[in-house]
Amino acid sequence: MDGASNVPASHDTGLVLHVLGARPNFVKAAPVVRALADAGVRQGIIHTGQHYDTLMSDVFFADLGLPEPVANLGVGSGSHARQTAALLTGLEEVVEKLRPRLVVVYGDVNSTLAAILVCAKLHIPTAHVEAGLRSFDRTMPEEVNRVVVDALSDLLFATSPDALSHLAAEGADPAKVYLVGNPMIDSLFAALPRLDPAPIQARLGTPAKYAVATLHRPGNVDDPETARELVDAVLEVSRLIPLVVPLHPRGRGRLAAAGLVPSADLDIVDPLGYVDFLSLVRGAALVVTDSGGVQEETTMLDVPCLTVRPNTERPVTITHGTNRLVTPATLPAAAAKALSGSDLGSPSGELPPLWDGKSGPRIARVIVNWLSNNES
Ligand code: UD1
Ligand code: UDP
Repeated sequence: MDGASNVPASHDTGLVLHVLGARPNFVKAAPVVRALADAGVRQGIIHTGQHYDTLMSDVFFADLGLPEPVANLGVGSGSHARQTAALLTGLEEVVEKLRPRLVVVYGDVNSTLAAILVCAKLHIPTAHVEAGLRSFDRTMPEEVNRVVVDALSDLLFATSPDALSHLAAEGADPAKVYLVGNPMIDSLFAALPRLDPAPIQARLGTPAKYAVATLHRPGNVDDPETARELVDAVLEVSRLIPLVVPLHPRGRGRLAAAGLVPSADLDIVDPLGYVDFLSLVRGAALVVTDSGGVQEETTMLDVPCLTVRPNTERPVTITHGTNRLVTPATLPAAAAKALSGSDLGSPSGELPPLWDGKSGPRIARVIVNWLSNNES
């Protein structure tokens, strides 16, 4: 890989477009956008509008220092078909108009899938950041998105070695694949000096010792019966330790109907901004989650994490020793063990390679090289 300095800033290699739509996209993109800016690459962000609440979107642009999008497609919410159809129509128009040299997509959300489909049909080259993660569970919408996105992308940026073997098993051309580490961890490292639990604890009135929970996966929150089992388990955890739940809008009503209501030991709050959330996580004795990104962030922050899912596409977080998969039935006992220090307390595994805060520059170097070798 040649350095970014190979391409002088004044040399216009064409427009690089980043398509972002949902909360985790913003966190993964920020280091790549920053590194490409440092390399003098002309770039722009298209916000699809998949996430639109201030606390699901704007606050991330501010916390992460992301530049204003050149367009917001305002697609909003809907069934998978409706949302994806709106994404396809909106993205086709904007990509045809801007004719970028390369479109960069992130993670596994519907905006990622739609951008890749549109570009494949318009013959616009694409790069996928976070390629090759697999839960092998196609009941997850994200898994379907991952498989399609990786099959159609021209550059595949993998965050962990297991992703390389998944891509190889699916026949990806090795020349397209780069192990670059995890840009989500770049964002975490960049925010570290600002991650102080005290201000957000003071604002929320959170006691000194507490746990944090986030829950939003369809498999957990969409079905009333499953939601009830999960809520019962979460309430049991709150009897062990005061629990703060920054609640994603998905499933808010369902979880409330299932009994997730505030009490002396259970604080249910709006989704938190990136710095506030990670500050709270940094000071927590335990995290309960079904998020993908939070499993990785707790790995780096050495915070015990219980993931309420039957599988994870991020097994390095388990082999590292900070994360464990649980069911609603096993969650309370697992929480008690973690809180007593007899589990998840002393991670013994290696940290994943290249989770060193330099993934953005690595990705930018590959892109700059690709741009100079593929002049239009
Ligand atoms: C999406 C991603 C998921 C990711 C999550 C990150 C897909 C298929 N899923 O799930 O992989 O983990 O984002 O947070 O792309 N809503 C609001 N305000 C918003 C956004 C959503 O109220 O700003 C509500 C709406 O009721 C909406 C629901 O949340 O119907 C779901 O939103 P959607 O973007 O479809 O999926 P997520 O569950 O957020
Ligand atoms: N996050 C946040 N505020 C919250 C919950 C999560 O800033 O209230 C951040 C979290 O630190 C991580 C990202 O959002 O960087 C993960 O997003 P989410 O859990 O919604 O999506 P997933 O990773 O499951 O796709």
